[in-house]
Order: sequence, then C-alpha cells, then structure tokens
Amino acid sequence: MSNESPNTRVSDVVLWGATGFTGRLTAEYLLRTYGVDGELRWTLGGRSRSKLERLREEISAETGIDASALPLFVGNGDDEASMRELAASTRVVCTTVGPYARYGSPLVAACAEAGTDYCDLTGEVHWMRRMIDAHEEAAHESGARIVHTCGFDCIPSDVGTWFVQREMKRRYGAPAGQVHLRVVAFAGGFSGGTLASMLNMMEEARTDPEVMRSMAAPYGLNPKDLQTGPDGGEGLLPAWDPDFEQWTAPFVMAGVNTKVVRRTNALLDFVYGKGFRYDEAVLMGTGATGMVKAAGTATAQGGGMAAAALAPVRRMLAQRLPPGEGPSKEKRESGYFDLRILALDPDDPSRRVHARVKGDRDPGYGSTSKMLGESAVSLAKDDLGVAGGFWTPAAAMGDALLERLPAKAGVTFELEE
Ligand SMILES: NC(=O)c1ccc[n+]([C@@H]2O[C@H](COP(=O)([O-])OP(=O)(O)OC[C@H]3O[C@@H](n4cnc5c(N)ncnc54)[C@H](OP(=O)(O)O)[C@@H]3O)[C@@H](O)[C@H]2O)c1
Repeated sequence: MSNESPNTRVSDVVLWGATGFTGRLTAEYLLRTYGVDGELRWTLGGRSRSKLERLREEISAETGIDASALPLFVGNGDDEASMRELAASTRVVCTTVGPYARYGSPLVAACAEAGTDYCDLTGEVHWMRRMIDAHEEAAHESGARIVHTCGFDCIPSDVGTWFVQREMKRRYGAPAGQVHLRVVAFAGGFSGGTLASMLNMMEEARTDPEVMRSMAAPYGLNPKDLQTGPDGGEGLLPAWDPDFEQWTAPFVMAGVNTKVVRRTNALLDFVYGKGFRYDEAVLMGTGATGMVKAAGTATAQGGGMAAAALAPVRRMLAQRLPPGEGPSKEKRESGYFDLRILALDPDDPSRRVHARVKGDRDPGYGSTSKMLGESAVSLAKDDLGVAGGFWTPAAAMGDALLERLPAKAGVTFELEE
C-alpha cells in the first residue's frame, strides 16, 4: 500500500512508528506471530520510506519470514492531514511514536474523529488527561476505542487486577475492597524514547502547573465528576508490609499504574466497588537487611528525581541515551518480570486471592512489544462488546487479554495458594 486509498480501511492494524526501538520489536512480534498473508492484514508505518523498506528487509532476516509483501504507510505525525489519512486507512492504529505529548496528539484526534481504534504505550498521565478531555466526545460519537498504556505500564497491573477481582467474584460473590501489587523482581533496561518521554514530562511540568496536578492526583485519570476516593498519593518512603511480611520501597511506575487501575473501576461503574483501594510497591526482603535495602532504594529514587529536575542533568542523560537506542537483544531475552498481587476483603481478610503475573522477556521492550501487539490484534479481531470512548486495557479488553497474553505473548496470570 502506498497511501493511495485513504478512504478504505485496507488494514486491520497499522503499526505506526515501526522504525523506532519498540516499534521494530513489535513488528518482529507481529511478523513471527501473524505472518504476512494470514488472518491479520497489517502495515508498517513511519515517516521515512527508505527506513521502512530497510526495516522490512531486516525483520525478514531476523525472523526468517519473508516480509517483502508487507504494505508500507509513509506519513508525518505532525501533519493533521497525514494523520487523518492514516486513521482512514485502517481499523486500528498501534503507535509507538513518542514522546506522545510531543508527537502523538494529531493522531489521537484523527482516530477519534474517524472511528478508528487506537492503542499506544504512553505513560504520560498529563497527556492522557488532555486527550480524554479533548476527544472523548468525538470518540464516543464515532465509535473509536482509544486505549492508552498497553505496555508494561499498565497491562500487568490493570489486567492483573481484573484477573484477581474476577476470581474474588467467582469465589466469594463480591470483588475485593483492596488490591496490593508487589514487584518481586524484574530485569531489563531503558530506551532513549522512554527517557525522552520522561524528560519531556518533567520539562512540561516546570512550565505548566496543570501537568504536576494531574500527575499527583490519585484519581487524576478518572472521569471529571468521579475524581475522589479513599486512596491518597503514592508513598515515597520505605514501609513494612504486614500482608507480604516484607519491607517495601516505592515502585517507580506506580504513579501511572494506580491511576489507570482506578480509572478502570470508575469506567466500569465501580465494578470493584466505590471504596476500592489499590497500591503498588517493590518487595525488599525481611529484617534489618530488608529495611536497609528499602531505605536505600527509596532514597536513590528520590535523589534521581531531584537530580533529573535540573536542566543540565536532563541534557546529559538525553545525550547518553538518544532516541532509537535501547537494551541489547541478550538483555531483552534474559530479562523478565515477576509480580505478586493480593486481593482481599478488609472486613474478612480470610477472603483473599493471591496471583502471580510473570513475563518471559524484559518488561519495557521484549514483553511490552508483545503486549502492545496483542492489544492491537484484540481491538481488530475480538468481539469486545465495547463502544467508542477512552478506555483502559482492562476495561476494553480484560478477558480477551487474559486469553491472548498467556497463549501468545509469554505473559502469564496465575492463581497461587
Ligand atoms: N509503557 C511502556 O511500558 C513503554 C515501554 C517502551 C516504550 N514506551 C514508550 O514508547 C515510546 C517509544 O519508545 P522508543 O524507545 O521505541 O522510542 P524511539 O526508538 O525513539 O522511537 C520513536 C519513533 O517515533 C518516530 N517519530 C518521531 N517523530 C515522528 C514524527 N514527527 N512523525 C512520525 N514518526 C515520528 C521515530 O521515527 P524514526 O525512526 O523515523 O526516527 C521512531 O519510529 C516512548 O514514548 C516510550 O516512553 C513505553
């Protein structure tokens, strides 16, 4: 395809940003899992035809599957007409073009107008808030299902909570009033695109107080009239966790994940209850060693954030890890994540469900690319019974992803005794 048929949805999925670090991994995943001429009609999209052609050759060599028949869509993320053409050409746009707050707004607008489903990897809370406020009505009217956060943030948290709550209802007839997610371990690395997105967010927060406000508000992603609840802000200190009987440190992704899980609850008419509480932390061990490790991790995180607030530090970081770069293949393949989730009824703590969520690749790229790819295919292929609007992964695709991710993407959700 060479952008000739803008009014025909010739693709099920266009992978937009396919030439970036995570885009390439998602392209490899879709090629390995769905091939070229199979049930999924998909297209590689990006801003440079020559880069896309090279990518097509490279992923063919990497996977041993001939991708030369894969169509290409060439466009420009900054150009509204180009994004309208992209949205009109496909049923789903799956985008890895970030920082999303810098490059992503015209595409969301185009999808919301055109009734085109959309998924991405953003963790930029302030930008999601902006997009919801600006385009919710259009998406509702056009039927576009817009789903942010379809990577490590926030699928394990959001779909993991959906999973334990489904089991609570099955066992006890009611959802849990509290869910606690604890990070046991993970191994992986960072990409230049992720770093650029974090730095861009800090930059915007410096000049726009609304950015800071939406990042700090525990219910900041809920619909406007539903932004209160029992949870406070994210803890910044080490703490003793009586349920897991370990010391904990703050989890760096909690600020995004918790807001998305709470939004799921609000969007689904408080399916987890109006008094539902949710938190995340990293398990650090027991005794004095656990306490020292928890204190050290909390201090290092606080220090890192304080340092990154300084413009020269941000410039130095951006030079060290430019966009397009990320963890090596060895690092991705030896990477993993391991999370525990506990759901419990605070009035009767014997009513509880334990679960484990694991990934067989590094969280940020190896596993994220597979979760994103499956989210796009789910939007294109599954009978989700969901109308147009801004959804979360669990609210739009909870049950479908609980089928797809273990079967295809190496992300498992298992109950524990
Ligand atoms: N939620 C998660 O768990 C998670 C995990 C991984 C990544 N992410 C997020 O995903 C995003 C991508 O990360 P990454 O490391 O893959 O970034 P990257 O390697 O820098 O890739 C960015 C992509 O955006 C494209 N691009 C930039 N400006 C564009 C424009 N104006 N029009 C069209 N395309 C444009 C680039 O095209 P060229 O190739 O032509 O330069 C490239 O394909 C980041 O926002 C990151 O934070 C989130």
